[in-house]
Amino acid sequence: MCGIIGYVGKASAAPILLDGLKRLEYRGYDSSGLAILDSDSHIQLRKKSGRIANLREELSAHPAEGGCGISHTRWATHGQPSDENAHPHRDRSGRLALVHNGVIENYQVLKDRLELDGHQFLSQTDSEVLAHLIGLAFDNSKETDPEKRLVAAVRASLPKVSGTYGIVAMHEEAPGFLVGARLGSPLVVGLGKGENFLASDVGAIVSHTADAIYLQDRDLVCLKADDFTVENVDGDAASYEVSKVEYTAEEAEMGEFPHYMLKEIFEQPSSIQNAFRGRLIDDEASALLGGLQLTPRELRDVDRIVLCGCGTASHAAMVGEYLIEHLARIPTEVETASEFRYRNPPLDKNTLVFVLSQSGETIDTLAAMREGQRKGHRVLGIVNTVGSTIARESDGGSYLHSGPEIGVAATKSFTSQVTVLTLLAILLGRMRHLSVDYGNRLLHDLREIPAKVEKILQQTEHIKKIAEKYIDAPGMLFLGRQFNYPTALEGALKMKEISYIFASGHAAAELKHGIIALVSEEVPSVFIMPRDSVYEKNVSTLEEVKARKGPVIAITTEGSTELERIADDVIYIPETAECLTPLLSVIPLQLLSYHFAVARGCDVDKPRNLAKSVTVE
Ligand code: AGP
Repeated sequence: MCGIIGYVGKASAAPILLDGLKRLEYRGYDSSGLAILDSDSHIQLRKKSGRIANLREELSAHPAEGGCGISHTRWATHGQPSDENAHPHRDRSGRLALVHNGVIENYQVLKDRLELDGHQFLSQTDSEVLAHLIGLAFDNSKETDPEKRLVAAVRASLPKVSGTYGIVAMHEEAPGFLVGARLGSPLVVGLGKGENFLASDVGAIVSHTADAIYLQDRDLVCLKADDFTVENVDGDAASYEVSKVEYTAEEAEMGEFPHYMLKEIFEQPSSIQNAFRGRLIDDEASALLGGLQLTPRELRDVDRIVLCGCGTASHAAMVGEYLIEHLARIPTEVETASEFRYRNPPLDKNTLVFVLSQSGETIDTLAAMREGQRKGHRVLGIVNTVGSTIARESDGGSYLHSGPEIGVAATKSFTSQVTVLTLLAILLGRMRHLSVDYGNRLLHDLREIPAKVEKILQQTEHIKKIAEKYIDAPGMLFLGRQFNYPTALEGALKMKEISYIFASGHAAAELKHGIIALVSEEVPSVFIMPRDSVYEKNVSTLEEVKARKGPVIAITTEGSTELERIADDVIYIPETAECLTPLLSVIPLQLLSYHFAVARGCDVDKPRNLAKSVTVE
């Protein structure tokens, strides 16, 4: 996915666009660019491959002044990162500029037709084709008013496109006027005083305004410094609401931390608290998730649950599967969202589907939600980003309330998703067989989790030393059983996505079914083995690794000092209920991968080839 920001107002657009791009850089960072209408109403275009710092340098060498502009930071889908492929793109006349987030699936057919018509393209991108399409419609429009011509041109062109888009367009004949439209890619309007903004993500504009309009699919917005209209692509009036952004610019800053990822790891005592705040019902030894919008009877009738997500969200869902089956005895399964949308699994009418997504924009998870809804199922969202597409289109759900997660590697969103799934399991369980006593114990232990996470975070230097000890490891194995099997998968994902080494997570007992062939003196095995019902089994598996000279890092419960005799390194976590251990055991894994990646000189917040939310197929 890419980052887009547009500005129209009295201030100089360039610094606002650059600052906005910086805040959006996590959405894509292989090239960037901007277009500003100067005082002669000429488009000043600056584009650079590489990080936004390169664009900043370009602008300081070649300034562009004006109060109306658009900008873009790219995660390449068509055409490699280069100056030419960076957005904005212009039409044949060079007088229209456009930025685009999404994928134009039929761009080649459109491009071939335009080339036959004499159009020449400067890039390999699909987005440039859209710029030419709109520019051609603008030139052919019968409208005399330039602003109306641009709107008519956008309206005439978008139906020809199949795929997804979030676009902002401007034209030299319509100074101080921006047109935005979305289908499948997010776009939010920021309403200022004498100035207005358009962005893919409210984080880009939260330092200027807290008043936002989250556009819906097929919305088309016209923006001036002191006016705006929201219609739909067909020209009919569209409903919209102005909402307050739920976090401040400071919360989206890195603060005193060297990386967003570390900041977000350290935010987990409060983000976990935020996930259960106001949702623990002591006198019923249960939990409250009002956003599910399901009556007790409807909840009681649920006889099967499907949890869908991608990446870290799917690992949280796996913990949810263990939790719900353990506490509520409801058959539950996890479906990788990208498979669910095509697998066509048989679901009976009392199956409840959940989709989990930090960004609320992941295209596969969005498609899984729509597939479940198409089949007539209620699909509930467990989402972090307020106003996101999944949050708006789902049939209800629960927000994580984690605050912005900027680091590409998901950390606090994992523990918040697991926290919400724990509440769901308690709620469903207490409507079935979960006793008051067990329910109360879980609520008590859940309340203690933030302080216990705080205690683990204090071991960051100890964990850093362990990470540095294995700095040359070519790969790493992560092993866990039961509630900590998904934790092992999550630990492996963290390690590989920010340090680029091969890492894999496994159910520990699977080691002897082939994986043990990977054990060697160079490859450390990380055992997630709190003192729980399968602790002794984990000790046996650990011994099997040691017998083959494999180094072992053990994450275990305070007091299990006997492991120091056999493991090479031990990281202790506080005691808690067995089913809550993932909330604690994942913290050392997050820190291990963070310190390992930093020691290897990797870009922790913007790992190569990745983006924070995958809004393209
Ligand atoms: C996790 O660290 C990755 N950033 C990635 O796997 C992520 O979890 C996945 O893309 C899902 O994102 P979402 O939660 O925003 O839907």
